Amino acid sequence: MTALLDIDALRVAVADGPTLVDGISLSVASGQTLGLVGESGSGKSMTAHAVLGLFPAPSIQVTSGAIRLEGIDLTRLSADARRRLRGRRIGMVFQDPSSFLDPLLTAGRHIAEAFRAHGVTPDLAPRIQAALARVDLPASVAGRFPHELSGGQRQRVLIAAALAMDPAVLIADEPTTALDVTVQAGILDLLRREAAARGLGVLLITHDLGVVAETCNEVAVMYAGRIVEQATVHRLFRAPRHPYTQGLLASVLDPGRDAAPFAMPGAVPPSHAMPAGCRFHPRCPLVVDQCRTIPPAMVDGVACWRAGA
Ligand SMILES: Nc1ncnc2c1ncn2[C@@H]1O[C@H](COP(=O)(O)OP(=O)(O)O)[C@@H](O)[C@H]1O
Ligand SMILES: [Mg+2]
Repeated sequence: MTALLDIDALRVAVADGPTLVDGISLSVASGQTLGLVGESGSGKSMTAHAVLGLFPAPSIQVTSGAIRLEGIDLTRLSADARRRLRGRRIGMVFQDPSSFLDPLLTAGRHIAEAFRAHGVTPDLAPRIQAALARVDLPASVAGRFPHELSGGQRQRVLIAAALAMDPAVLIADEPTTALDVTVQAGILDLLRREAAARGLGVLLITHDLGVVAETCNEVAVMYAGRIVEQATVHRLFRAPRHPYTQGLLASVLDPGRDAAPFAMPGAVPPSHAMPAGCRFHPRCPLVVDQCRTIPPAMVDGVACWRAGA
């Protein structure tokens, strides 16, 4: 498989401040949906921002590593070149569809803008119809305003706009977190179908292992700015190896009617107070001395001194 998106030892940090993403490597192949999962504050969104080249504050920067899209290192491109790639080769979808839709513009206008931003201007009406059909929305949606659409329909309009230019890769950051569970399933099905049918590479960011199970082939588990485990979805759910992955799984698996779901004690450390050694060690039930001082390297898809212990 050739990687469409190849993230290599990526570091993101605040200027003169903490490191938010600490040397992660990931790759997304054509037709693949890679899940990036972890609790809130793990650095998942910062990873997405780095790929898009848009950080929430100017002080946040990529400090080392490479992000190759179809072989080109994005971190070496000018801001202008990156702007041209966004929306054309990299599509993006975020958590809250409402905040990305202008209440005064129809769904059709939003999709039209996705084409116009990249210089595609002729025959927009049939292109908009095709973009809506691609996300299973009727043609009549083109004339509707955001407030006339349901949350699920709004997210479909944004996905239609994101896919309008046929990007190689789609970055979806918690795309269904704001939606009802029943609506969520339809959106995930749509993403999976696009990957399979068109060879789109999808990086699906979520805090929800259920979403990963439903949608992804491969999954990377992120904790406190690092990847702690990476595996096929099948393997990860059958035999999780990192104690953090085991804890995440235990907290979502149905524990039976009488038992309360297992809740992992503690929380992701703040970026200015990262523990030494393995960053998970203060919460880890298997901790030994070595874990407190020496960060474990990724070996065979897991970064843990106690894996297999
Ligand atoms: N604007 C910002 N400036 C500095 N640090 C930030 C900013 N936004 C988020 N962070 C920090 O970056 C880390 C990673 O955050 P984020 O990528 O949003 O996590 P996730 O998406 O996994 O929930 C967290 O420690 C968070 O507090
Ligand atoms: Mg996030």
